[in-house]
Amino acid sequence: MSRNPPGPLRLQDARIRHQRPSPHPNFLFGVAYYPEHWTAAERRQDVRRLSEAGINVVWMGEFAWDVWEPQRGAYAFDLFDRVIADLGSVGIRTILGTPTAAPPRWLTRDHPDVLRTAVDGQRTGHGGRQHVNPNHPVFRAVSAQLVAALAEHYANHPHVIGWQIDNEFHCIGATDFSPLTAAAFQEWLRHRYGRITVLNRRWGTRFNAGTFEKFEDIPLPLRDRPDGYPPHPGHLLDFHRFTSDVTCARLGEQIEPLRAANSDWLIIHNGFFRHLDYWKLGGPLDGLGIDLYPGFGGEGRAAQTWAALKLEIARAHSGSFIVPELASGAGGSRAGNLETPDPGQMRLWAWQSVAHGADGLVHFRWRTARTGPEMHWHGVMDHDNIPRRRFRELQQEADELQRLAPEIIGTVVDVKIGILIDFEADESHDAVTSVLPSPRHQTEHILAALLGRHLPAGLVHVRDDWTGLRTLFLPSFGTISTELAARLGAFVRRGGNVICTAGTGRRTIDNAASTRTQPGHLTRLLGVQVIEYGATRQPLLEVAISPDHVIAAPHGYEIIVVRQATTCGAWRRLPSFSKARVPHPAENLPALTKNALGRGHALLLGTWVDESNVTPFIEFLASELRWRSLVEAPAIVTAQRRISPGNRILFLLNHAAEPTTINRVPAGTDLLTGDQLTHQLTLPSYGVIVAKLV
Ligand code: GAL
Repeated sequence: MSRNPPGPLRLQDARIRHQRPSPHPNFLFGVAYYPEHWTAAERRQDVRRLSEAGINVVWMGEFAWDVWEPQRGAYAFDLFDRVIADLGSVGIRTILGTPTAAPPRWLTRDHPDVLRTAVDGQRTGHGGRQHVNPNHPVFRAVSAQLVAALAEHYANHPHVIGWQIDNEFHCIGATDFSPLTAAAFQEWLRHRYGRITVLNRRWGTRFNAGTFEKFEDIPLPLRDRPDGYPPHPGHLLDFHRFTSDVTCARLGEQIEPLRAANSDWLIIHNGFFRHLDYWKLGGPLDGLGIDLYPGFGGEGRAAQTWAALKLEIARAHSGSFIVPELASGAGGSRAGNLETPDPGQMRLWAWQSVAHGADGLVHFRWRTARTGPEMHWHGVMDHDNIPRRRFRELQQEADELQRLAPEIIGTVVDVKIGILIDFEADESHDAVTSVLPSPRHQTEHILAALLGRHLPAGLVHVRDDWTGLRTLFLPSFGTISTELAARLGAFVRRGGNVICTAGTGRRTIDNAASTRTQPGHLTRLLGVQVIEYGATRQPLLEVAISPDHVIAAPHGYEIIVVRQATTCGAWRRLPSFSKARVPHPAENLPALTKNALGRGHALLLGTWVDESNVTPFIEFLASELRWRSLVEAPAIVTAQRRISPGNRILFLLNHAAEPTTINRVPAGTDLLTGDQLTHQLTLPSYGVIVAKLV
């Protein structure tokens, strides 16, 4: 049982979304199971083994439309009814997936025009996933009818505890280029702008003789035109906003009948992909999940930081979240196989997820498929169905999570340093051809550097409540509304620190360049103006903080004029360029500034951050703002704290394949072993400590 009452169900009801505790009282631990792939005898054996594994939930049904509805309007529930009952009899609950990510053949056969139209006008063939046009009224109607039928059938089922809506919206296909979608986009634009003259003015269509006479004239924008000419930034950004809205509407159509059937159901979706505003999508949900395959990030520290970014994106949007798919073996349906996890690595990823706020974990998948394009995406069980080390590791995870759940459920991740994320900031950056690092790219490296120093850092959504945070990073947010500027100003006046990087405040909401001198509405907060900026084709300048503390500027520079701020670093020409005859206009001028406002500070770094320069930047901030690390250890070790009133749990994880020593460990008891922590300790390869601090 939980220590605290479960948190609010709907995400939109959470006051501080990233601090929302678990909405369910126990830790959900399970596997993705596809009964439709197996014989009756295998299914019977599976029930026994799943029970031996110690799991308490299965995820099922998200690709089984042809089973639920073999012919239009003829529903068949018996296969899933039997399996749900058998699993229920051994205490395993079910979360069902609405199967709309894989529409059946009868639909695409009878209505070939439901198939998704690719950017080149080609129809996507049947046989994959997300192969239909999300705007097609027939697809929307049959989806709604099926979900209504499922909702009604399972409304009072004792073992069905919730739903996952669809699967990974926008993973395989997000956009559609059919005339039907073009018409829907035109309607969306009409609704947004009212009059075509307004749209022409706000997008700025005079460029390239692009003025539109009427909404019906507006085509779908091509991101990658065959002639290589770049797209119009306002046009493309609105197309992606429209694409997002279509998916949010689809989600709403599915939630409604499910909520009406049973208001206790836990309803989630698993993301996170492009052109989708998950803050908005998540509002009516009870949680967002992140599917985690750390091998996509590489190995060692690369996998660790990649996973941390994904987990933090989920936490920022959802607070308590679930990992509905956690890698359980080698992956390989696409180019390049993901490696088989080393012994102990699956468990390490499970605990890494929990350390970042997961209150549910589902391994993908129970048994590896024997047929189809994913037959090399390995599950817990291999093709020959013999339980081996990955099965035993699953058992170990189940045992540990069950034992520790009462301490963990109800706690939230302790974050003091937030990196702000925003759909709009990323999408507006992506809609303009640019070689500069995006907000998302900078976020990834800032997060990795902060976590590498074992600081209490994480991602926070720009629209969330920032109570409790001490520092906020704002990586190159092009559009700064007056409202955001006011919120940031209030945050700083109350004692917070805001840290901006280059490019802040240069765009309008329509993705045009702002007429205001940068940083626009943040001029007062930062106490500076940017009078010139430029990209550098090769490293030319660096930010000199002291003779031996420099921050590289591989992408470009901003020349800052200080109004009230103090200069912490100035532009210095790289020694390799010292022989150039013409002085660089930035030389010796401010490159890094700090402005005191009220009880806090606002800092601007006049360049973009990436892997090559993030470490000295974070070092500067750590000493300037007096940050204190949770422990002292190499970056391959992660340290996170989850807290609730009177309870502090420290997660120490060694992502290295060899033992690693940690210093300055606080006092506490390892909940897994019962051992007291020592000031210095060595974690074995892939070792995990989950400690209750005194
Ligand atoms: C995920 C997807 C799963 C499975 C997995 C492995 O993206 O949701 O259904 O396909 O990848 O390929």
